[in-house]
Amino acid sequence: MDFKQYIREVPNFPKPGVSYKDITPLLLEPRIVNLCVEAICDNIPPQKQIHKVVGIESRGFLLSTLIAQKLNAGVVLVRKPGKLPYKTHTKSYSLEYGEDAIEMHVDAVKKGENVLIHDDVLATGGTAKATNELVEMCGGLVVQNNFLIELESLQGRGQLLNQEIYSLMMY
Ligand code: PRP
Ligand code: MG
Repeated sequence: MDFKQYIREVPNFPKPGVSYKDITPLLLEPRIVNLCVEAICDNIPPQKQIHKVVGIESRGFLLSTLIAQKLNAGVVLVRKPGKLPYKTHTKSYSLEYGEDAIEMHVDAVKKGENVLIHDDVLATGGTAKATNELVEMCGGLVVQNNFLIELESLQGRGQLLNQEIYSLMMY
């Protein structure tokens, strides 16, 4: 399946010179979304029961729930600061200009649980790296980081050394 035909490339968004990868055409096609979920689930390292799927706000939420349902795993939300109501672990990370942070409930992942991390896009890798650290703070074991789209030129993989990575589409 050529999933890329459902990704709209928008030139010069959000700033000049950037070609934005828009997943919204893909989301309009339930059959294709289902095929994405199946392809991701078929590429999880075998022989590991997955206990939790961690989705990263906000576009990572879209497929993380579907992946978790298929695996009979729980869904965990990683959110921007101040959005989660209970006690959280917080991790800050660098952006192109400045810093941001993400949070996860302290009881979302239990010690020794096998965890998948899902997001729509791997760009510079800062968000995914911080998410891996949040899971590790809880004693969880990250089995794989998976993405719909990996922007290879931004070298996000370099932030996730020694981690298993699967990306459905490479750009
Ligand atoms: C985008 C994308 C990833 C992140 C990747 O999210 O959805 O979550 O950036 O960037 P990085 O690899 O350089 O860290 P964004 O912050 O735009 O928020 P959104 O998902 O809420 O739209
Ligand atoms: Mg995002």
